Amino acid sequence: MVCLGNICRSPLAEGIMASLSNPDRVVVDSAGTAGYHVGNPPDPRSIAVAAAHGIDIGRQRCRKFQASDFEEFDYIFAMDLENLAHIREMARNARERQKASLLLEAGGFGKMEVPDPYYGGEDGFQYVYDLIEQACRKILEHLERN
Ligand code: 4NP
Repeated sequence: MVCLGNICRSPLAEGIMASLSNPDRVVVDSAGTAGYHVGNPPDPRSIAVAAAHGIDIGRQRCRKFQASDFEEFDYIFAMDLENLAHIREMARNARERQKASLLLEAGGFGKMEVPDPYYGGEDGFQYVYDLIEQACRKILEHLERN
């Protein structure tokens, strides 16, 4: 799960996907394309909205997306088009490039982005939570069928 800062959207996406999937079968992680917050915990507003849904993301620490993630993971889900473009620029071949997609598009929403809630209010975080949860459920259904 990849966003810009790895403190608002992708930590939520990591926590939600991990909570919905079998840890023996699915490894979930998150990262940011920017390095401003490396080593920091998620934004307190993301921690709060996850906690309100029974998910603890407080132990996550921000890290930067790196080219080796293309080797580690089968799927790379970007929160928005800018981050998707950035990830694809880092891919070293077509196979790596094809691992990256837009989370909401993979989750059945069409070419839609998860809006950045960083500069908005608390309700932006709940909205983002709901979008991500719906997309993750759809992606897991799809993976289980294939
Ligand atoms: P995120 O949100 O990409 O969802 O983690 C942001 C967090 C921090 C910044 C931008 C977006 N920032 O500019 O510091």
